[in-house]
Formats: sequence, C-alpha cells, structure tokens
Amino acid sequence: MGDVPTLKLVRPPPAEPRSPARPVLARKVARARRVVSIGGGKGGIGKSLVSANLGIELARRGKRVVLVDADLGGANLHTTLGLDVPKRTLSDFIERKVATIDDVVTPTGIQNLGLISGALDHLDAANPRHAQKMRLLRHVQQMDVDYAILDLGAGTHANVLDFFLVSDHGVLVLVPEPTAVENAYRFVKAAFWRRMRNIAQVYGYEGLLRSVMDGGTFRSPVELVSTVSERDPEAGANLARQLATFRPRLVVNQARTAQDAEIGRAVVAAWRKYFGLEMDYLGYIHYDDAMWRTLRARKPLLVERPDAPAARAFAGVADALLALDLVAEAGENR
Ligand SMILES: Nc1ncnc2c1ncn2[C@@H]1O[C@H](COP(=O)(O)OP(=O)(O)OP(=O)(O)O)[C@@H](O)[C@H]1O
Ligand SMILES: [Mg+2]
Repeated sequence: MGDVPTLKLVRPPPAEPRSPARPVLARKVARARRVVSIGGGKGGIGKSLVSANLGIELARRGKRVVLVDADLGGANLHTTLGLDVPKRTLSDFIERKVATIDDVVTPTGIQNLGLISGALDHLDAANPRHAQKMRLLRHVQQMDVDYAILDLGAGTHANVLDFFLVSDHGVLVLVPEPTAVENAYRFVKAAFWRRMRNIAQVYGYEGLLRSVMDGGTFRSPVELVSTVSERDPEAGANLARQLATFRPRLVVNQARTAQDAEIGRAVVAAWRKYFGLEMDYLGYIHYDDAMWRTLRARKPLLVERPDAPAARAFAGVADALLALDLVAEAGENR
C-alpha cells in the first residue's frame, strides 16, 4: 500500500468501501499543498508554456513552486525556462539512482521556483511501469512545496490521465479551434471514465456498473448514475458524490478575438448541459507574438516581457486558482 498516491475521494466516505482494496485517504504526512496538472489532449497547444509561466507567477507571489516535467516522452519544460538539460532528471528518480525526489530538483534562477526536468531518451522512463508511476506521484504529493505543477504530455494515455486525476487542479488547456475543442472534450471524457473506473474498483461497484452499462447506452453520467440508483440507491448516492469532485479547470490559450475569450464559458455551459458536470473557468491567455519570440530567445515570457498581454493574463489565471484554494481550505478547516 506504500506506493499508492492519495486518490481524490470525498472525505469522509459515506460508506465503508466494499472492496478489500481500501483507498488511502488523506493521511497526515508532509505533502505538496496543491498538485496542479496541465493537460489538454492535443499537442502544441501551450501546455508547457502555461505550466512554466503559471509557475513563475505563483513563485513571484511568494508561493514555493516546483515545476515537474511529466511529459515523459517529450520532455522540454527546461527549454521554456531557458535552461540546459539539468544533470539530474526524472529518469534518475524513476530508475532509483537517487533516494528522494528532492534530489532531482534543479534551481531555475527564479526565486521560489524549482524544476524537475523530464526523463530524456530513456525508454523505460518514458513508459514507466505502474508501480514506478505511483511512486512518482506519491513522492510529488509529499514534496514540501506550496504548488507542484505537472506539465503533461499530449494524448489520452493512461499515464497522462492518472496524473490529471490525482491532481487537486486538473487544468485543461483549450485552444479556440474546432479540432482542439474536439480533442479537449475527448481528453476530459476519457479522464472522467477513468475516474469512474477507479471509483468502481475502490468501492467494488464494477459488477453493478457493468450490468447497468450492458443494459443500455447512456448519454450522460447523470443518466448512468440515476440508473445505478434505481438498482442500488446507496451506491448511486455515493457514486454521485464522488463524481461531483471531478471538476476540471479550464484555461483558454491563444485567444485572438473577443469570441475566443468567450469560448471558455461556452465550454463550461456545454459540459454542464450534456454531461451534467461542472468545470471551473480560470480565464484566457491572449495569442501573443511575445510568447513565441521569448521562447525562441530561450527566456520565459514573464521574465522577459512581463508587460505583454499574455504575460499579464497569467495574473488572472493565478488569482482564479488561488481563489479556488482559499474556498477549499475554508472547507477543510471547518
Ligand atoms: N499564447 C500564445 N501565443 C502565441 N503562441 C503560443 C501561445 N501559446 C503557445 N504558443 C505557441 O505554441 C507552441 C507550442 O507551445 P507548447 O510547447 O507550450 O505546447 P505543448 O502543448 O506543451 O506542446 P507538446 O504537446 O508538444 O508538449 C509554442 O512554441 C508557441 O509558438
Ligand atoms: Mg509540452
């Protein structure tokens, strides 16, 4: 059980899990106050640039931040910070060449901001075994920082979804183009079904879910949960509670027009209407030449061009994120 990262479950659980495989609920151990993962399904939409610049914004506000390059097959977060490949990378941790994850944190030259550089050219590290991935997540969750920000790879691979799902904030980056919107929905739906599967495993609902799903097709989770409730009201109520915690955050990147800026709200409304679930819209980042120019100059946008519109937009995204945490903390301390 030692290698199981904390699974996000509603606490306290309303009923004892029926399966012997009990979840590890919040334990009183040192932990990263918040784990944020930045994903979105599609490649090249700005996940790494959003991760890096959001990290800088939070670090400047006095938060202790570590950026983690979790793009296991295509690590390049160091480049967005203008750094060479650090000597120590995630590969050393995954391959147990170092004792703790703190041993692979590299300073970035920015106060309060460390980097765990991605695994480079190690096939094993690019495709970690399940146990290796769980160990990595557990160690990230236990780091002594305020925010651990994970830059995820593209696609809907189980590795990517699992990082997204164990985070306190699973952030979906969306570019306002039809193909990107399609990919974003695909990503968030895949994450949702994986969460459903995890919950079913933990609480022993697999048989129940299978038989309900074999009996018909469901247009939305709401429909599915209400059918489960008819069969087993307690399971239905628990499932509904657990699924309500699946609440992705949304950032629109590369907004060029006023309509682009509005697309975030439209996506949130559509998600609610067709999926019966909530998302939190954190705001939008402008399409800004300063973004790619500073990248080419190997300098972070917020360092080199803090006045650029895209750079200033990160303040709004950080405000929204911090506000969610304040609300969550008020609830935790009640
Ligand atoms: N707000 C923006 N304004 C202008 N260009 C942008 C913006 N965001 C991203 N880009 C461009 O998109 C490119 C890809 O960005 P980035 O590497 O962060 O994407 P990614 O989603 O991490 O890609 P990958 O899936 O390959 O890891 C950048 O090189 C930059 O040119
Ligand atoms: Mg990237």
